[in-house]
Amino acid sequence: MTKLYQSCLKPFLFKHEPEAIHHKTLSALSWLAQSPALCDLTREILKAPALPVTAFGIEFNNPVGLAAGMDKNGIAIPAWEALGFGFCEIGGVTQHPQPGNPQPRLFRAPEEEAIINRMGFNNLGADAILQRLKQSRAKKRAPVGVNLGKSKRTDLADAHLDFTYSFKKLWAYGDFFVINVSSPNTPGLRALQDKASLQTILQSLNEANQACAQEINCKATPKPLFVKIAPDLTLSAVDDVIELAIDSQLSGMVATNTTISRPKLNSSKAPAAYLETGGLSGKPLQAKSTEIIRHIANQTDGKLTIIGVGGIDDPRSAWEKITAGATLLQLYSGLVFKGPEIISSIIQGLANQLEHNHFKSLNDAVGSNAPFTPDKGNE
Ligand SMILES: Cc1cc2nc3c(=O)[nH]c(=O)nc-3n(C[C@H](O)[C@H](O)[C@H](O)COP(=O)(O)O)c2cc1C
Repeated sequence: MTKLYQSCLKPFLFKHEPEAIHHKTLSALSWLAQSPALCDLTREILKAPALPVTAFGIEFNNPVGLAAGMDKNGIAIPAWEALGFGFCEIGGVTQHPQPGNPQPRLFRAPEEEAIINRMGFNNLGADAILQRLKQSRAKKRAPVGVNLGKSKRTDLADAHLDFTYSFKKLWAYGDFFVINVSSPNTPGLRALQDKASLQTILQSLNEANQACAQEINCKATPKPLFVKIAPDLTLSAVDDVIELAIDSQLSGMVATNTTISRPKLNSSKAPAAYLETGGLSGKPLQAKSTEIIRHIANQTDGKLTIIGVGGIDDPRSAWEKITAGATLLQLYSGLVFKGPEIISSIIQGLANQLEHNHFKSLNDAVGSNAPFTPDKGNE
């Protein structure tokens, strides 16, 4: 399948404008998602191995998830699981529907396996996305996270209201929620990572979380909440977020979003896409996001679950994030450059590493700093 993707599909897809291809691929997956029989067939062909992991009270069939931003409106949820993902994160969802930034706003740097985007939370808004989530509920077989953003038209001072509106709307349909204060493409959003602003948002969401749980029945538990941070924060700013996350009893952190920096490349000349404004994802983000994961893990000693994301594109980069302290992983750019087979190859590669290092389960390997042992199947 990798060969098929690399030799046939990718050259065809990469001839076209990135956003047009993104929408076409997503439409195809949304069509696939409608048919349980086709989902079964896809699952059978791609054969992702199981590698169970437990995190924040939820069991995942494997730790590899789809990162936010690929399925902003939640139109293809059953298809992600059929491709082999252990979970997906839909969104960013905002209170109000919005078109996002003007096109073009999505750029590839194929040689560097990087993407630059300035999408700007283009999405149908929480009310419409609620309908999508309701429709796919019966077909859903893996946990679904919901990424919450802020509408462009909402003042920063009212950000907590925007987040809370979407959270309450979608509360019953998400297995966990991610507060995204780290997208570089909504003016001022990243300032919400600042302690005082974030505290207001977390307090509002915590109150809503309790209220929604009470409404269902008095024994219902609140939903796991995460905060997603930018890789561009200083470590002391990361520490502020960590402190707040622990004080607010969040389940964990998602590290990281895209970077506004343009990490140095081995090639002498930077690709044209590097000149575009926006967040960079993919291979050049890999080391930075792992560094942030390691820092969070060192500072928190297991008090927060870390979802590691940024440049994961093979078993080695996945293992590095697990052993740095991430319990779950997500990817976006790796899927674009390597195709769906990347999912099973990472899961199998992680399973091989567990065996090499004599770990009984993936949970045992989290934060272990165990080295990667190359083997025939995963290099
Ligand atoms: C086109 C695009 C849109 C994205 N949209 C969102 C988003 O809405 N919310 C969010 O938290 N992250 C968003 N992201 C960031 C990804 O979830 C992820 O954190 C980042 O791409 C790094 O992972 P990767 O290197 O595997 O791509 C987006 C990324 C891309 C490439």
